[in-house]
Amino acid sequence: MSVQPIAQTPRDIEQLNVDRLPKSVQILDRAKKVLLSPTVTGPFRAPKAVAFVEEARGSRVVDVDGNEYVDITMAYGPLILGHSHPIVVDAIQKSCTNGLVYCIAHEPEVRMAELMVDAVACAERVMFCNSGTEATLHAMRIARACTGKDKIAKFEGGYHGVHDYALVSSVLAIPAGPADDPSSVADNPGIPQGTVDQVLTLTYDNPASLDKIREHKDELAAVIIEPVPSSYLIEMRGFLERLREVTTECGILLIFDEVISGFRLGYGGGQDYFGVTPDMATYGKVIGGGLPVGAVAGTVDAMQPLITTGDPLVDLQEKLLTVGTFSGNPLTMTVGYKVLEYLRDNPRIYDHMSTLMDRIKHEVHEFCETNGFALQLIGLGSWAIPHFISEPVTSPRDLRNLEGLMKQEVLCQYMRYHGVYMPDLHTVFVSAVHTDEDADLIIEGFKQSLIEMREDGYL
Ligand SMILES: Cc1ncc(COP(=O)(O)O)c(C=O)c1O
Repeated sequence: MSVQPIAQTPRDIEQLNVDRLPKSVQILDRAKKVLLSPTVTGPFRAPKAVAFVEEARGSRVVDVDGNEYVDITMAYGPLILGHSHPIVVDAIQKSCTNGLVYCIAHEPEVRMAELMVDAVACAERVMFCNSGTEATLHAMRIARACTGKDKIAKFEGGYHGVHDYALVSSVLAIPAGPADDPSSVADNPGIPQGTVDQVLTLTYDNPASLDKIREHKDELAAVIIEPVPSSYLIEMRGFLERLREVTTECGILLIFDEVISGFRLGYGGGQDYFGVTPDMATYGKVIGGGLPVGAVAGTVDAMQPLITTGDPLVDLQEKLLTVGTFSGNPLTMTVGYKVLEYLRDNPRIYDHMSTLMDRIKHEVHEFCETNGFALQLIGLGSWAIPHFISEPVTSPRDLRNLEGLMKQEVLCQYMRYHGVYMPDLHTVFVSAVHTDEDADLIIEGFKQSLIEMREDGYL
């Protein structure tokens, strides 16, 4: 099918959305006075049309005006079993009557750690926290304590959350220096220059990065990397192996940030998929089954700065303080355990999600090719990120295209109008409970949205 030029008055997509969101518009007016953009998780720009959720079940969300959407936001990734899966609801109901948080030892935390140690190649010890951001922050500090060195190497464009070290040369930074020898720059105002100076920024899949690691081996505590960069697809297989060899040779810890890939790319995450075992790995999202969570898993050697000596006086002086009031709370541990156990016992879920996303990508790409749309859905397994770019993406720098990002924002408005809730400037996910019918609606949503964006002069 090819797109026929349709002579008609361009629609104002934002106004069309406003018209079907009267109750949301009222809440938005209140939100703008007390919240930020206008909610914590976006949308990033401040549009007039923001849908406020009333309820969510399975693959669908319903807004306060009764509009239903196929949800491909999936809460930015944790909801691998969809919204309010019976396993999750049942675990919450059973657990919450036993108390919500103790800050006293409890078995659900032990059970969850046992399961992760069984599942994850690098995991001999696990510590829990409350977000992916906390997990990468702790992992970097553990690495510094373990090696006695201060610097952390990361990859330009790699996202590791929002603490100071993570927001150096991450997705939002304006790249600086040559592509194969990038300089470290703060993503945002507010990041101390002292922290920027402690980060060595590398280039994915480039031998120069390995040389740079060797050159700085006496200062580097760790190299952190997403085994699959979540915003673009770069073939990492050979590179991760070489990274493992070089870090071992140089006495530097290798950290895989598996906050997205963990238990999502497959049950064993990126390290199982690529057959490369890091010293530590960070987790979040899926392992909480929808409740706030983070974790660092690692070898006994790497986790030494946390592991008790049995002597309280020594521990007090030498071990790192990683406590958090809600860390490893029984509710999250019980729910997370149930979800991971379900994934372990139902491995076909991974095939189902990949097949569905592959079909969406294939049909959308075919449509784009036939009709001259420069949209790519880039990702692996059950996730993808839509980018308006015609050339193959080989570097995160290719994606720093503000015009493309703004088109992506506009695409969200059209997708929502067509009943697909796509997140602003973010990865999209399918879950175990998305169906072929959902995929049909998602594909049709992309097609209609692109046609209308062209008619309305956006493309
Ligand atoms: C790879 C990666 N690391 C860390 C984080 C931060 O996790 P959180 O949002 O739970 O702080 C994210 C979040 O998207 C992520 O994708």
